[in-house]
Amino acid sequence: MKQPWGGRFKESTDALMLRFSSSIFFDQRLYAYDIEGSMAHCRTLQQCKILKPAEAGKIIAGLGKILKEFDQGKFKVKENLEDIHMNIEQRLIDLVGPVGGKLHTGRSRNDQVALDIRMYLRDAIDAIQKSLHQLAQTVLTQAKKHVDTLIPGYTHLQRAQPVSLAHHLLAYLEMFGRDRERLADARKRVNVMPLGSAALAGTNFPIDRQYTAKLLGFPAVTHNSIDAVSDRDFIVEFCAAASVLMMHLSRFCEEIVLWSTSEFAFIELSDAYTTGSSIMPQKKNPDAAELIRGKTGRIYGHLIGLLTMMKGQPLAYNKDLQEDKEPLFDTVDTVQTSLEVFAGMLKTAKFKKIKVEKLAASGFLTATDLADYLVLQGVPFRDAHEITGKTVALCLDTGKTLEQLTLKEFQKFSKKIKQDVFDYLSVEQSVKRKNVYGGTAPNRVKEQISRLSKIWK
Ligand code: ARG
Repeated sequence: MKQPWGGRFKESTDALMLRFSSSIFFDQRLYAYDIEGSMAHCRTLQQCKILKPAEAGKIIAGLGKILKEFDQGKFKVKENLEDIHMNIEQRLIDLVGPVGGKLHTGRSRNDQVALDIRMYLRDAIDAIQKSLHQLAQTVLTQAKKHVDTLIPGYTHLQRAQPVSLAHHLLAYLEMFGRDRERLADARKRVNVMPLGSAALAGTNFPIDRQYTAKLLGFPAVTHNSIDAVSDRDFIVEFCAAASVLMMHLSRFCEEIVLWSTSEFAFIELSDAYTTGSSIMPQKKNPDAAELIRGKTGRIYGHLIGLLTMMKGQPLAYNKDLQEDKEPLFDTVDTVQTSLEVFAGMLKTAKFKKIKVEKLAASGFLTATDLADYLVLQGVPFRDAHEITGKTVALCLDTGKTLEQLTLKEFQKFSKKIKQDVFDYLSVEQSVKRKNVYGGTAPNRVKEQISRLSKIWK
């Protein structure tokens, strides 16, 4: 079969080679962008009088027909036409005749594909931002319900100090806020129009690139045609931002997996987001959380794959660049679904009545507060730390909790300890005293909830 570029060729392409080099089976999802870009290019050619109005009209009508065929699932893609660009161009010529062959004037597939993926990614980022926004609102809703729910905060996964559950949840909202900024920043460099760069050198035809950009809603055009056809930084940047976002989701998932164990028992996931075991009837597995955690590895893989695919390429376009699409598409799809599933899982999850006093007692959650108490009585912090350490050691030896010690026992270690220590050591008081901006005191958490509600409204 003769290829559209087959003029200089005497032999036809090897069948395996054809399959190997064609991208149509994955790049057909760009069809709507390819057509929209072609329509804009056609109008630009008309504007500078390369195409007569009647010719441009025919081409645009033909492209409109092709768009419909795709939308209705009627377009038959052909592998020998390699990619979405040539499939559409060939179909256009079939539909409108030789005038269809004028569309590619002043354009190359190199700038065409760069345009298509930029348009695709611009929309994909917007859709991801929307889902991220919905997830953020779900986190906020849960946080608002749990300002006064206290949990042990952990360091080294050892019980450390009591914190508000809302405060813990809102830590993730801080991460999501940064994700949103990173995506918005990456989008600025996606949103640049490359058409007019043609194969690599620019074009002989007097097209107005700003006009094309305006038609397609781009605020800027690329400044160097060689860079424009070979640059995929914007994909790498997006995949980097997506990797960080997935890292955040994965950490959250890890906690949800832990929290839903009988050992923690902080959270009950809805049946809708869990699965059973085919052999152990008692089981309810947090598969959604595990899958998101697992898929994070794939997204990192795509980022590293893309960076590696780019690193050895001389300027300008090389066919290596065709390898940008599968990792990009999979990253977009995976991030999008992960965000939606995660939001659903979190929205339907119920936090259990956490007996924080019990956890606090056995974990000495307020030991730091005892040290601070001594500091307030004038004891230097290092000495206070030592006294508290000895007190905890006594508890461990006698099987008692801090609250179960008598005043006399406390005073063995320091005469500065008075009756009011018992009130001071309660988890509620401990949390309330963390009244610093950004701290876990309930009024400080409420302060952040109102700030975040404005950011994510
Ligand atoms: N399918 C190609 C890609 O995805 C389109 C550009 C092909 N250009 C070329 N000169 N072969 O990168």
